[in-house]
Amino acid sequence: MGTDLVMILRQHQLIPLTHKEIEVCDHQRTRRILEEYKPEVVINTSAYHRVDLCEDHLEETFKVNTYAVRNLAQICQDLGSVLVHLSTDYVFGGEKKSPYREEDLPHPLNVYGVSKLAGEYFIRQICQTYFIIRTSGLYGVAGASGKGGNFVELMIRLAQEGKPIKVVSDQILTPTYTKELAKKMTQLVETGEYGLYHVTNNGQCSWYEFARVIFELVGLHPDLSATTSEEFSAKAKRPLYSVLENANLRKLDLDDLSSWREALEQYLREKGHLK
Ligand SMILES: NC(=O)c1ccc[n+]([C@@H]2O[C@H](COP(=O)([O-])OP(=O)(O)OC[C@H]3O[C@@H](n4cnc5c(N)ncnc54)[C@H](OP(=O)(O)O)[C@@H]3O)[C@@H](O)[C@H]2O)c1
Repeated sequence: MGTDLVMILRQHQLIPLTHKEIEVCDHQRTRRILEEYKPEVVINTSAYHRVDLCEDHLEETFKVNTYAVRNLAQICQDLGSVLVHLSTDYVFGGEKKSPYREEDLPHPLNVYGVSKLAGEYFIRQICQTYFIIRTSGLYGVAGASGKGGNFVELMIRLAQEGKPIKVVSDQILTPTYTKELAKKMTQLVETGEYGLYHVTNNGQCSWYEFARVIFELVGLHPDLSATTSEEFSAKAKRPLYSVLENANLRKLDLDDLSSWREALEQYLREKGHLK
């Protein structure tokens, strides 16, 4: 996400800070750095988001996703900076069978979701000028550094290795291309209409269907089969339905994001997977 934001925002006066340059869990140093630059806008893309690992690493998870966010919120409030923060569809529990709107009651099923929701609440408690952007199923050209790549590249690699591939078909979401999200975040911040927003590509699919379309577009024919969350038995529970409706974005007439399929095609083209 950070890589695409840096690309999209290159015309602005930008101070991109990687984990090497800023440790958000070091509250005092983070304050010193931000006090030095006095940025108009702070975009926080840091997170501890290895969802299964979060279950056993509560301290680390809350340090990054909750306490560091509280500190950033306090610093931004003190400096008069706008805080832009990314959150997740995993704040929801999946009981609903139609897309979640911003005002729907969260009900996280795993530690990651609880920690991200608590981060959101601290921002709302402390900041006057913030954008909280909930999104889902991110993939981008750089690949998530915390997860060692992205789902699309993982699927393509497994198919090229000729391995049988099982993907869950009972978790429904909207995969979202980080480049498009970065563009939309920029437009949104420019409106000055602070608040909580859902921002994903449009439409919905299961992870299985997402994988099937990746192979269809790239022209690969692996041994792909559908499985269930129960059979897959990941450490962390995940919502079976976490589609987000870009409802608040629509009120600003900004919900013109492509369908997940179009966005995937665009990504595959840019990554050189399509002829
Ligand atoms: N990936 C998804 O599917 C998804 C879905 C919904 C929401 N989100 C949210 O979107 C945001 C961006 O995620 P992403 O997929 O772009 O993840 P990413 O590629 O792993 O980026 C996260 C970045 O944060 C850095 N970081 C981690 N801990 C840090 C710390 N303590 N101090 C400073 N930097 C730290 C990481 O550096 P190192 O790798 O060097 O630690 C990495 O550069 C996160 O808030 C995430 O919760 C992601």
